[in-house]
Amino acid sequence: MDNKEKFLSILERFPKHIQEAAQLGTEIKLKPFDKIVMCGMGGSGLPGELVKSVVKDVPVILVKDYTLPGFVNEHKLVFAVSYSGNTEETIDLYHQARTRKAQIVVVASGGELAELARKDGVQVVTVPPGLQPRMAFAYQTIPLLDILKVGCDWQRCAHFLESEMEQTKRESHKLAQNLGKRIPLIYSSARFFPAAYKWKIDFNENAKMHAFCNYFPEFNHNEINGYDNLNGDYVVFIIKDTDDHPRIKKRMEVVTKIIEGKGVCVIPVPSKGPDMITRLIWTIWLGDWISYHVAAELGVDPLDVPVIEALKKSLD
Ligand code: PA5
Repeated sequence: MDNKEKFLSILERFPKHIQEAAQLGTEIKLKPFDKIVMCGMGGSGLPGELVKSVVKDVPVILVKDYTLPGFVNEHKLVFAVSYSGNTEETIDLYHQARTRKAQIVVVASGGELAELARKDGVQVVTVPPGLQPRMAFAYQTIPLLDILKVGCDWQRCAHFLESEMEQTKRESHKLAQNLGKRIPLIYSSARFFPAAYKWKIDFNENAKMHAFCNYFPEFNHNEINGYDNLNGDYVVFIIKDTDDHPRIKKRMEVVTKIIEGKGVCVIPVPSKGPDMITRLIWTIWLGDWISYHVAAELGVDPLDVPVIEALKKSLD
């Protein structure tokens, strides 16, 4: 099986990932906490984006850097997520969280982080190895949503995706053709930003191309000016959800007219699914599929990320 075929089989197994992921982390027990700090880089930063979008009764802070915020103490819950378990930023943050006596849960397939957690008696959600971190999205995210008691009916979610498989393949192929060789600019509401962000990193890592994302209403206050002085060949995707705030819906309509008026193609992408989390996950999966088709069209390997690997090695 070459990498293109492997990637395809991972995409087709995604509904199964959801069912399997729902079995992980069921033994994790939490003590009370007053803030959640999500640590994780790149593909392992995605669970943090989802948790931030879904958890509404406790502040959620994302850390994608080397330094924990000053407020982290024994009342904070820190998730240290690293698929390989060997990402230096996340390992650094883990050590800082230990020093500050925070409650920590590690999410990893193995590596140094899992080893440290085992030695320190820290709880671990062990995710299956052998995938690219961005393709282990369900395994890394679903257990956290369940641990935080904000998950959904995962069987229903998986069945919905299964039932949408053929249509999603066709739809994503058409969207990939609409994009062609242009640069995608992906916009969504803040709630759906995890999907916009996943589309961006899928284009970056699977199709090896530039892509950028932003969210409503924030980008209406800055980035929208860029359309006055176009410096690239772009296609705009606007991810829309039925429960978007009415003013966001209005902004999406108005902004579409403004951008189209500047001669840039705008493609609306309505989310699908029986509940908000399923709609978010389906939209993320749609982005995975689009990047697969774009990678095929560009003739690039959708799985391996040699530039990231080389960069990590040269930092050793
Ligand atoms: O998708 C990727 O390969 C990267 O974005 C990685 O997720 C990132 O470099 C962090 O590695 P890990 O997920 O192993 O912590």
